[in-house]
Amino acid sequence: MGQKNTALVVGATGVVGRNLLRHLLSQEHWDVVSVSRRTPDVAGAYRHLSIDLLDLDDCKAKLEPEQGITHVFFSAYIEKEDWAATVAPNVAMLVNLMDAIEPSNPGLRHVNLMHGTKWYGNHLGPFKTPASEDDPRHMPPNFYYDQQDFITARQKGKAWTWSAARPHAICGFATGNPMNLVMVLAVYATISKALGLPLRHPGSRDNAKALFQVTDTAHLAKAVLWMSTSDQAANQPFNITNGDIFRWETMWPTFADYFGMDLAEPQRINLPLMMADKADLWSRLVNEHGLQPIPFESLVGWNYGSFVFTPEFDVISSMTKARQFGFHDVIDSTSMFLRQFDQLRTERVIPTL
Ligand SMILES: NC(=O)c1ccc[n+]([C@@H]2O[C@H](COP(=O)([O-])OP(=O)(O)OC[C@H]3O[C@@H](n4cnc5c(N)ncnc54)[C@H](OP(=O)(O)O)[C@@H]3O)[C@@H](O)[C@H]2O)c1
Repeated sequence: MGQKNTALVVGATGVVGRNLLRHLLSQEHWDVVSVSRRTPDVAGAYRHLSIDLLDLDDCKAKLEPEQGITHVFFSAYIEKEDWAATVAPNVAMLVNLMDAIEPSNPGLRHVNLMHGTKWYGNHLGPFKTPASEDDPRHMPPNFYYDQQDFITARQKGKAWTWSAARPHAICGFATGNPMNLVMVLAVYATISKALGLPLRHPGSRDNAKALFQVTDTAHLAKAVLWMSTSDQAANQPFNITNGDIFRWETMWPTFADYFGMDLAEPQRINLPLMMADKADLWSRLVNEHGLQPIPFESLVGWNYGSFVFTPEFDVISSMTKARQFGFHDVIDSTSMFLRQFDQLRTERVIPTL
């Protein structure tokens, strides 16, 4: 790809967005502009635009002057306790963005959407596994459907194309995000160890035995770049996971070794409730070990931990389509977790106890 592209990374402070930003900054032939309300804590040569995507006037004022955008990577996301309530704001952000950039960017070539396994209804209960991209939709609401329907309709007759990634349980270095499994695991293990407890899977035995999958952020970034620049992948959704599957019951012994802890039987706990009184303990660890002073309330999304450790059914997406269309990378999830724990130690987010 000799030609220069300009990426607009939307949702650049998110667990997906900031790692996509990092990946694009490491690539040749890409200029990068980022969008979110906060400024990303990512070093590198890019411009950041602080925009509230729910405010169309703000979008137009700051995005209309941008006239060289070739690729949009949309991973902005607004979390609501009620999944149905996620539809209106998450669709509005995408519509406002497209209304602001499309007229002034005739060179636009691609819009990538960031979706996930909730497309298949894993938040509702057991679903057909492995889930395939053309499986029938579940009963809406689901904002992924509305976003994809919007972008499919908007793309008709245009020179640009779209794609959508469907990852699961994204794991990568990021703090202050509601959905980051690595932070749940690392902080939960650290707190258990500081309390002198053995390491326990915090879900039921059936949850520990079910098959599960995760997606490494760097792997996801490579996949997104692939699907956004491959002609064959145009106008398609793709499942993107590490490409392996595992059971939590076989993962915890490795985690216990890593953190130097005894392993005990699974015990289902309510993570948001049980972690609610651990802020003082965390402050003590921060002081004793010189950790980054990240407020405990924004360190980990414990609700997300409950979401992962509650289901007693398999969560598996088929990676066949991505492979057939040309994306062949595979990540070993066990090594990924250990590598990411190492990074959290290096960045002084968790201590080496
Ligand atoms: N995390 C996972 O495990 C996971 C798994 C599967 C699928 N996904 C999907 O991946 C997508 C991204 O998720 P994520 O986990 O990266 O989310 P996240 O960490 O919560 O990041 C959300 C991003 O959206 C931005 N944003 C929110 N409201 C905004 C607004 N009004 N204006 C401008 N920017 C706004 C945030 O920036 P500011 O707050 O700075 O504005 C942040 O950069 C979502 O569609 C999610 O469903 C995530």
